Amino acid sequence: TAVYPFYQEHQAGIVTPAQDRLHFAAFDVSAGTTRAGLIELLRDWTVAAAAMAAGRDIGDFGAVSGPYDAPPEDTGEALGLPASGLTITFGFGPSLFENADGVDRFGIRARRPEELTELPHFPGDMLEPARSGGDLCIQACADDPQVAVHAIRNLSRIAFGRAVIRWSQLGFGRTSSTSTSQATPRNLFGFKDGTSNIKAEEPDAADGHVWVRDGPAWLAGGSYLVARRIRMTIETWDRTILREQEAVFGRNKGEGAPLSGGTEFTTPDFALTGRADLPLIGAAAHVRLAHPSRNEGIRMLRRGYNFVDGTDALGRLDAGLFFISFQSNPEHYTAVQLNLARHDALNEYIRHVGSALFAVPPGTAHGSYVGSALF
Ligand code: HEM
Repeated sequence: TAVYPFYQEHQAGIVTPAQDRLHFAAFDVSAGTTRAGLIELLRDWTVAAAAMAAGRDIGDFGAVSGPYDAPPEDTGEALGLPASGLTITFGFGPSLFENADGVDRFGIRARRPEELTELPHFPGDMLEPARSGGDLCIQACADDPQVAVHAIRNLSRIAFGRAVIRWSQLGFGRTSSTSTSQATPRNLFGFKDGTSNIKAEEPDAADGHVWVRDGPAWLAGGSYLVARRIRMTIETWDRTILREQEAVFGRNKGEGAPLSGGTEFTTPDFALTGRADLPLIGAAAHVRLAHPSRNEGIRMLRRGYNFVDGTDALGRLDAGLFFISFQSNPEHYTAVQLNLARHDALNEYIRHVGSALFAVPPGTAHGSYVGSALF
């Protein structure tokens, strides 16, 4: 299975071909943690993340070689499993720079880029505070769910006394492809998702749309991560006729081809009309509203996952899409999302219930720690 080195120019887990599984966690730094304590945590996280990405257990003695009278350094459930393409990606939330009380706990407020603030409230948002925000985030992706969970579990254990998990999300089934070597997967509405995404094979697109260029020096080569927990009203969708399902996206369900014709990777023709001169891809179709041609050329790298977290109190599936995108400026996300929130036909079938924004520092050099240029 794949092994992605932790120490790279950019953090792994962004243009890395999207793995099948996700465990994402947002953390709050605990009261009383100092600037030095935060730096120490980031150092400890870096060393552990590099070991796990290489398929090793963490600590000097790992899961089973340590002293008999101490808890093992590694929790052990990944013993014997390969690296499984594990990537661990760290991010810093706006509240790390200035918390809700306006306090600069770590002496970094002056280094906060202007764009790193809470996302605005969009029409239709029904955000739950318990699923939103966070001082820090860790995205763990792997082709084996046990490996992704092991990573978050051990990193949160290392953080004991210094940071606690605020919320976390498991994802299965990637909802996008980030490499032309990958087949396009499907989301829980049954549609191919990721057809028109930024791919690892387009380094120019990543340079232009994913990596931060005009920000502060500590963020150069980094990115901004937007996470949105989007609940799908599956039961309503499943009673919707196929014609309407396809009209909502502006693509067909079988192949993912645009309704203006062609095959999956044919460029959509938004001007093409059919019966009664109506556009074949309607005015409220998701792909029209999200398309760069309707958003001043904005593109983003989407890297989301399906989720099903059991059923809710009304017996409906608590299911949806855990949307993750990486972009060079969070205002790009805001512009596209505003367009969608106002007009998207999809809104009848979805609800945004969680939201977070993080600045993702660049990759880490050997011997250093993630985000070191910030301190
Ligand atoms: C395209 C599904 C939310 C941005 C697509 C496509 C599907 C889809 C099926 C067409 C295939 C493709 O190119 O990937 C969904 C579902 C969503 C969702 C089910 C929510 C549950 C969002 C959100 C954004 C977004 C929140 C950003 C604010 C885009 C973009 C494209 C796209 C940029 C590509 C448009 C193009 O260049 O043709 N989405 N999407 N989507 N979506 Fe979404």
